[in-house]
Amino acid sequence: MSQSSGAADGREQSVLFRFGLQDRVALVTGGGQGIGAALADALGEAGARLLIADLDLGRAEHVVAGLRAKAIDAQAIRADVSNPGEIRAMVQAAVDRFGRLDIAFNNAGVNFNSAAEDTTVEEWDMTFAVNLRGVFLCCQEEAKVMLPQGRGVIINMASMSSLKVPHPQKQAAYNTAKAGVAHLTRSLATEWAGRGLRVNALSPGLIQTDLLQSDALRPLAERWITQIPMERFGQVTDLQAAIVFLACDGSSYMTGHNLVIDGGQSLW
Ligand SMILES: NC(=O)c1ccc[n+]([C@@H]2O[C@H](COP(=O)([O-])OP(=O)(O)OC[C@H]3O[C@@H](n4cnc5c(N)ncnc54)[C@H](O)[C@@H]3O)[C@@H](O)[C@H]2O)c1
Repeated sequence: MSQSSGAADGREQSVLFRFGLQDRVALVTGGGQGIGAALADALGEAGARLLIADLDLGRAEHVVAGLRAKAIDAQAIRADVSNPGEIRAMVQAAVDRFGRLDIAFNNAGVNFNSAAEDTTVEEWDMTFAVNLRGVFLCCQEEAKVMLPQGRGVIINMASMSSLKVPHPQKQAAYNTAKAGVAHLTRSLATEWAGRGLRVNALSPGLIQTDLLQSDALRPLAERWITQIPMERFGQVTDLQAAIVFLACDGSSYMTGHNLVIDGGQSLW
């Protein structure tokens, strides 16, 4: 598949063709479970070859086994996105294995769900080291490969909490870091727009994954449902088409955007 959209207005290719990711190389952080695993699967189904990175190598290898069973070319790596050296090694591993890097989904994130008055310095720092500094350092290393290529797509995982303060769960550090991801995305999009890189963010609402299963959050489920106009939690499958859209040539005039998928929760 051609890497370009063909004619300046792309009309020589069918719209579904432009959704394809054939032979593109994608990196997914925190890809070992939950949203990262499901969205990696979507990128793979659309044609991408994948490096699945996770703090937990066993999880990443399990996801890779599932992808390979579907004839999707994939490789696992252990990488902690709070560690700058491991981020460098992760991006280099993608280039070593696949020869290039076209798509990066900076998805890894943590949430300690501590009340503001009880949040420790360690919790604050770890939230920012993974959710915001980690995203920045991933973008930086990915851009060092993509800028010389003259093209690339970065998608950063933000959250509905980048736009509004979810209630009643207490997660000031998380909300603040995710708001930072949204503005970081706009900043990088602006810096790199003229050099072939697009940078967008994804902001899910409440998606049923292990992240929502902590002791602090599980009891809130019934209350949350009343806050969601669609009256249900999101599933990881509700996000799959969005990642393919953001990664593909169909969104080629879109950068700096924060795409919200939350069943309408942030509308009111
Ligand atoms: N679940 C939701 O409702 C929801 C909503 C909005 C945004 N998000 C965001 O989506 C992302 C994924 O969330 P999820 O619900 O799939 O979470 P999850 O806890 O189910 O999975 C997160 C994965 O990231 C990995 N990880 C954690 N810290 C890491 C690190 N330092 N380096 C590399 N990998 C690391 C974990 O091992 C795990 O495999 C997070 O950034 C989260 O903030 C989730």
